[in-house]
Amino acid sequence: MPSLESLPRRLMLSALGGLAMAGSATPASAQGAAHIRGAYTLMAPGGGSVARVLTDAAQCPDIRLDGQTGPMRERAGPRTIAARVNESDGSAIAPAAFPLRVCEAPIARAVRHAEVGGIALPLPATIIRRIVVIGDTGCRLKDSSQSYQACNDAAAWPFAKVALAAAATHPDLVLHVGDYHYRESPCPAGNAGCAGSPSGYGWEAWNADFFVPAAPLLAAAPWAVDRGNHEECARAGAGWWLLLDPHALVAGADCADPAQFFAGNHTAPYAVELGDKARVIIADFAAIGEKPFSAPDKLARYRADGAAITALALPGETNFVSDHYPFGAITMGKHDALRIGYPSIAQAFGADAAAAGNAAPALPMVSAVISGHVHLLQYAAQSGHPPQFVVGMSGTQEDEPPAPADAQGSPAGISPGDLATRYGHFGYAVLDRLDGGAWAFTAYDMDGTVLLKRIIARRGG
Ligand SMILES: [Fe+2]
Repeated sequence: MPSLESLPRRLMLSALGGLAMAGSATPASAQGAAHIRGAYTLMAPGGGSVARVLTDAAQCPDIRLDGQTGPMRERAGPRTIAARVNESDGSAIAPAAFPLRVCEAPIARAVRHAEVGGIALPLPATIIRRIVVIGDTGCRLKDSSQSYQACNDAAAWPFAKVALAAAATHPDLVLHVGDYHYRESPCPAGNAGCAGSPSGYGWEAWNADFFVPAAPLLAAAPWAVDRGNHEECARAGAGWWLLLDPHALVAGADCADPAQFFAGNHTAPYAVELGDKARVIIADFAAIGEKPFSAPDKLARYRADGAAITALALPGETNFVSDHYPFGAITMGKHDALRIGYPSIAQAFGADAAAAGNAAPALPMVSAVISGHVHLLQYAAQSGHPPQFVVGMSGTQEDEPPAPADAQGSPAGISPGDLATRYGHFGYAVLDRLDGGAWAFTAYDMDGTVLLKRIIARRGG
């Protein structure tokens, strides 16, 4: 996969912004554009969005909003995150270099045109009608599991193709359900599938794993971003905070210092307004884990999140919840029993640890939960609960179906017609707004074949 820097100039600018450059840019803005390595828009807490520009220039560029020009502020200058020790196995983690300046500017929802260096930034429509959903996109290189996905093979790691196909649907919004960064370990010598891939937690791996393949989709629409467990502080959290988290960057809560990882591993839930009585409630459960937990500070944090999500779901409106870990998916590892969701998530919504198995939250005001983490496509509608959609199928190696001998029937609360699981397909999903607060969920493979279609009805109120 070529770096963004190595792409032909016309292609790079097209991927970044979609605007014709040479004819329309002023000399000053064109000069700034020459240094731009990324330009995209993130939906932010509070109802607006934030423009992010990555540049190797000595200062941040100006931004033009509805004809008014002003400076972007510097989120972070070039920096290197210090070497550290892997919490899980004691191995050494190399320093992570980000030789870029990260610039940003808040954008009010009413703004209709934004431009940096002659590159138009996508902005949220007043009423968002089409949402592309992708998840679990990176190329897995990980020593501890001996996983070495063939990042150089577009069939084995097809995120670039998925992003192109998804961009061609002309979404108003892109929702990524988490796990962007997977290139944690070096490609082993002699492995042609991943030879030459960067690895580790710095910019080079982030660029190859995410920014290069995602470029057409970053140019197509603003993004709402869930944080995955791969973006925990112990893993790619520092890059998450520099590049993708829409909140302000706060020293001590930016995953730069292992002594302060707890602070950097969380932000409070917030709503992305879709207009006309609909929203997506975004939750950062990146560090909640799958298992029951008992630490009082962790329990207090996620119980507060559960209460906040419940409060953000308004009666009489269409409320989606999106986070990385499914609330109510039917999951089964090769040697596990069928289960609904994760005990950790159930605890966030009030279940105690002992009773948290098979206890997905009912959330009567929520129309659907949209998640990833499991590398497949799934619809699971437990009676009395919001339907769960899992879209963990956009690039990372797919999960395999369980062996027939491991199948143990349907878990309580799920009838066979309310459960659909698709293994072994790479692709994306599209949410289309219908009348009366309903939405259509349609999942496609990379070639446009429909894998799954369901109508989401408004629940509650
Ligand atoms: Fe995950």
